[in-house]
Amino acid sequence: MSGWFFSFEGPEGSGKSSHIRALADYLRSRRVPVRVTREPGGTPLGQRIRELLLHPTEGDWVDRAEVLLFLADRAQHVDQVLRPALARGEVILCDRYADSTLAYQGYGRGLPLDQLRALIAFATRGLQPHRTFLLDVAPEIGLQRRRQGGGMDRLDAQTLAFHRRVREGFLALARAEPERWIVVDASKPWDVVQRTLREHVRRLLGLPEEELSKPDDSPPRGAR
Ligand code: TYD
Repeated sequence: MSGWFFSFEGPEGSGKSSHIRALADYLRSRRVPVRVTREPGGTPLGQRIRELLLHPTEGDWVDRAEVLLFLADRAQHVDQVLRPALARGEVILCDRYADSTLAYQGYGRGLPLDQLRALIAFATRGLQPHRTFLLDVAPEIGLQRRRQGGGMDRLDAQTLAFHRRVREGFLALARAEPERWIVVDASKPWDVVQRTLREHVRRLLGLPEEELSKPDDSPPRGAR
């Protein structure tokens, strides 16, 4: 496999999606073949799983059923999108991946991490990101941004204590595997965060520095 697999993690309202879009635009401007994708919902079937999982009211899932749906989405995504893109040498920017399962279903819901890791290995057949960016922000700030930005889905609407556990989970995962994780302070202004992401990816891909273009001064509309 010759491509690069970057995943982006973080609590609600960390601005992942707008940063991924802007990073993709930057990389395309540097003629890098980019594939933007997300979980859940990176395939047509996965999109239907996403609708089931994130529906604001139909949410009476038992925890094990919920995690198995996230993993079904992931298995589909790995085989149909991620592995083929890597084989073509593309740079994948993936909005959430396996670490979300460990943070939300493990640290958040309390499912055993070792069992989750075994299920993730089964679903992904061992595919791991080359680097994972954590856009870290306190849940109070993230949830406030999310409320201002529009609707809350079923997982956004969990308690603050749940979101605190998720954040601590991400930070613990990052501490345990520092060679893979890059933690970025997402409470900083949008353009500072974007510049940091571009600089990391530029270096990892070995793109020359002089062409580093300046991010827009303001976030795109609807950025969160
Ligand atoms: P999304 O709207 O993509 O949230 P965000 O914009 O915050 O990324 O919804 C994805 C939700 O699903 C989010 O609340 C995190 C949750 N999730 C899990 O609980 N487990 C998982 O394995 C994944 C991939 C996501």
